[in-house]
Amino acid sequence: MKRSPITRIVTALAIVLAIGAGTLWFLNPSDPLAPLKTLAGQAATTTPAPDGYAFSYAVKFTALPIEIRDSVVAVDIDCFPGSVPLERNIGPGGWTFVLQTSRDSPDAPKGAVAGYLNIFEDNYPVVEPKPEEKVPSVRGPALTNVCIATKWRGRKLATPFINFALNTFAKANPGKEWIYLDVLASNNPAMAAYKAAGFEEMMRLNDGRVVMRRNLKMLTQGLPIERK
Ligand SMILES: CC(C)(COP(=O)(O)OP(=O)(O)OC[C@H]1O[C@@H](n2cnc3c(N)ncnc32)[C@H](O)[C@@H]1OP(=O)(O)O)[C@@H](O)C(=O)NCCC(=O)NCCS
Repeated sequence: MKRSPITRIVTALAIVLAIGAGTLWFLNPSDPLAPLKTLAGQAATTTPAPDGYAFSYAVKFTALPIEIRDSVVAVDIDCFPGSVPLERNIGPGGWTFVLQTSRDSPDAPKGAVAGYLNIFEDNYPVVEPKPEEKVPSVRGPALTNVCIATKWRGRKLATPFINFALNTFAKANPGKEWIYLDVLASNNPAMAAYKAAGFEEMMRLNDGRVVMRRNLKMLTQGLPIERK
């Protein structure tokens, strides 16, 4: 059947509009519970969130919608009281991942920010030894600011959240081999969560910190994340 030029134009316009609307829906940053879509423009992994929660953002801190950013700042103060304000310590190299509740509960409304973490893409100074210190310098991609708000602690949220962030980051950065972190050896909940997410100890420093690393290639090759 032969179509008139007008029908063809209308059909083409309808297709363009449908694709545009679909793309907007896919990347919609205004819905606090839009499943996470972008890390440097790539689709996030499908690592599922624990029941009742959603992994919602992996964006530059400044790209978070203002209400989510405010909640992240509040949660940061809860996790790291007295430390440098988040807006100042995050810098341009960091990706912020957010964990939100996915339904109303007596505890908190749907969309409440239960935690956040950062991944620095590269060159993060995990260990910067002074000349007299006999430890190697460690710089590279880094996991920092892992934070589950007090109200949500002890629910085993940290490890799946970290796994999700690592999977997403590894997928978007297939060339990177290791991701690093530092943690106080005395921080038992954090040490437990990092080990469960596959981090291994590299060294212990005199200031009480443990430096750990996690192989990213293993994630991109689809190998399972080790459990304790
Ligand atoms: C570290 C942290 C992210 C762990 O998050 P989490 O989701 O509570 O972790 P889990 O539920 O897996 O609990 C880890 C351990 O913490 C213990 N724990 C700590 N605080 C708890 C609380 N308020 N309620 C219950 N358990 C708690 C649990 O016993 C658990 O030990 P187990 O695995 O032997 O049972 C969270 O405690 C936090 O945000 N702390 C403050 C910020 C911080 O120190 N971040 C790390 C910086 S390196």
